[in-house]
Amino acid sequence: MDLLTHKRITDKNQLLPGPKSKQALAETQEYIGRSNYVGLYGIAIAAGNGSYIQDVDGHRYLDCLTGASCNILGYNTGLEQIYADAAKTLQHSCFPYAPNQAALDLAKLLINNTPGHYPKKVLFGLSGSDAVEAAIQAMRKYTRRFAVVSFKYDYHGSTGLSQPASGFGLEKGIFPHSKYFRHFDFPGSPRQVEQVLAEIKSAFQSGLVGGVLVEPIQGDAGVITPAAGFLTSLRQLASQYNCLYMVDEVQTGMGRTGKLWAIEHYNIEPDLLITAKGLSAGYVPISAVIGRQEVIDSLEPAQHVFTYSGHPPSCRVAQYVVNKIIQGDTLDSVTRNGQILKNKLLKLQKIFPNIIKEVRGTGLMLGMELNISANPELTQTFCYLCLQRGIFFGYFGINNNVVRIEPPLTLSEQEIAKVVEVSREALLIIAENRISDSVKGAVKKYCVGIGIAADKKS
Ligand SMILES: Cc1ncc(COP(=O)(O)O)c(C=O)c1O
Repeated sequence: MDLLTHKRITDKNQLLPGPKSKQALAETQEYIGRSNYVGLYGIAIAAGNGSYIQDVDGHRYLDCLTGASCNILGYNTGLEQIYADAAKTLQHSCFPYAPNQAALDLAKLLINNTPGHYPKKVLFGLSGSDAVEAAIQAMRKYTRRFAVVSFKYDYHGSTGLSQPASGFGLEKGIFPHSKYFRHFDFPGSPRQVEQVLAEIKSAFQSGLVGGVLVEPIQGDAGVITPAAGFLTSLRQLASQYNCLYMVDEVQTGMGRTGKLWAIEHYNIEPDLLITAKGLSAGYVPISAVIGRQEVIDSLEPAQHVFTYSGHPPSCRVAQYVVNKIIQGDTLDSVTRNGQILKNKLLKLQKIFPNIIKEVRGTGLMLGMELNISANPELTQTFCYLCLQRGIFFGYFGINNNVVRIEPPLTLSEQEIAKVVEVSREALLIIAENRISDSVKGAVKKYCVGIGIAADKKS
């Protein structure tokens, strides 16, 4: 059944989640380990079409989360046919034992479309986390140094090495500390740049650090762009001390910021580039590390390998997605539409300066930080009001204080207008203090999010 034939936009006063979502939530709590579910609103998604998703109760939302920045081409894109055709020919070959052309074609495409004027190779995997894992392992093997420099509130994943590399979970107290991972401030001002670089330099001088792992724009920390010049100076410093520069493009990559890779905005050539999420536009779990041949090949055969790595239909899907982004006008339209949306949100900030603290980001990776000093649940409340009016935002940041705006890269101007109109309506309700008790109750009960403050709720 095509659920989207209902085409029911959420009623503004409708309390969410609806009954079927509540049932799904109850089953989630009964059958799924609590680590697998965080929850933004307690609603379960059933279908998607274009830029819209629909929940199990038939409410439709314009999707500004895209499955955590995966579904970059929207929904019902025809890509399932590419998967089906490839799977009909060969659904799996286990690349570790027998190569297949689909994986080779994708590898060549990635190599030819990542920055770096040096011989490159690719390692395939299944998630952003395992790709980060691969990069750190290769760095250690190549440099014979164990320590990694990364940044406070970065998020790099949920596996053995990607967890301690993540400043985010560390601050939350749920990820393990490791003496081999050192987290520095992600500098927001030129003065901070100097100080942080000096601290990193002294870490490099210890002779223990093999590389630096960095998000070009911090994602889960709340769309934080480093101060001008930082990433370039960091690259220079890393080269000076023979440390590798590993760039985590899991969230920023695949056109999200208006270039295929965000690091291209800075003309930096990383040693290793890590991608996942949007690489398959949400159709299949796939990741890749692309980088210096000698670094990638420092890993022994089977040191980073999965039964499903280089899976042929998945590689064909990813090949299509990469080509679609680099060959069409997607990147130009992300830049143009991202700026239009940002300008409109900046206008809203002028109207509601007490609510919106900052609008930031590049392309269609935007964040709107709200002033939560008087109400720690302000962001959830804003997002919930928007949800009732048919917009599905994410929210993240250290204190759940940033509205996450990562829609499909194909977002139209008409859809931008809707995002802005609904945001204005929600801001007005907040400004005029017209939030009903039932909305407050639903926010308290269902809107959890990933911020540190969220833990206090559970
Ligand atoms: C920047 C970044 N790196 C790594 C990861 C981990 O990716 P995955 O959840 O696919 O393992 C994420 C996920 O949110 C991310 O945003």
